[in-house]
Amino acid sequence: MTKISPSILSADFASLKEDIIEVDKGGADYIHIDVMDGHFVPNITIGPMIVEAVRPHTDLPLDVHLMIADPDKYVDDFVKAGADILSVHAEACTHLHRTIHAIKEKGVKAGVVLNPATPVEVIKHVVEDVDLVLLMTVNPGFGGQSFIHSVLPKIREVRKMTEQVDHSVEIEVDGGVNKETARLCREAGANVLVAGSAIYKEEDRKAAIAAIRG
Ligand code: DX5
Ligand code: ZN
Repeated sequence: MTKISPSILSADFASLKEDIIEVDKGGADYIHIDVMDGHFVPNITIGPMIVEAVRPHTDLPLDVHLMIADPDKYVDDFVKAGADILSVHAEACTHLHRTIHAIKEKGVKAGVVLNPATPVEVIKHVVEDVDLVLLMTVNPGFGGQSFIHSVLPKIREVRKMTEQVDHSVEIEVDGGVNKETARLCREAGANVLVAGSAIYKEEDRKAAIAAIRG
């Protein structure tokens, strides 16, 4: 079944605990946490302290999306804070293979992320090392942007790549996911869907999660 990873970027940060408990009870599979540093992306959001603060309030895996320059420096901090899945952008890693293995050595799952304009060939030689591939369907930095349809063929390409690997690799999609674009992502082969505004801007978050899951 398709997994749903609500992005807390669209939550109310002043009532983050309640907003996390609500999507947990509403059927979420992961909690997606967007970490932005104002360098790799033009916005500043969450650091390890917030991840640590969130950790006691849900048993769901914390799906931490690092949109930061030089992520190697912070792997340890986010693992200690309670991340279960730590994903890094291929565009931010000079030694991608090294970074992925540094994450796995800490005992958490490692994901690799590609921006919309980055070709899937970039991950050809690390796909067997990762637990998850995250394809951005917006340019990272902000919630509430429109889905970029030209990423759909990349989902299919990654699906083919992951089928050659002898362990299961999740394919996650992030950005502009609503119940209509979710269907396109599922049909292309994605099995984890991140959604921020399409869940948190809805009154009934449980229904929004169910609608995106399809
Ligand atoms: C974008 C973030 C996303 C964002 C998605 O840079 O990585 O996770 O919160 O928000 P929506 O679902 O509103 O596009
Ligand atoms: Zn994200």
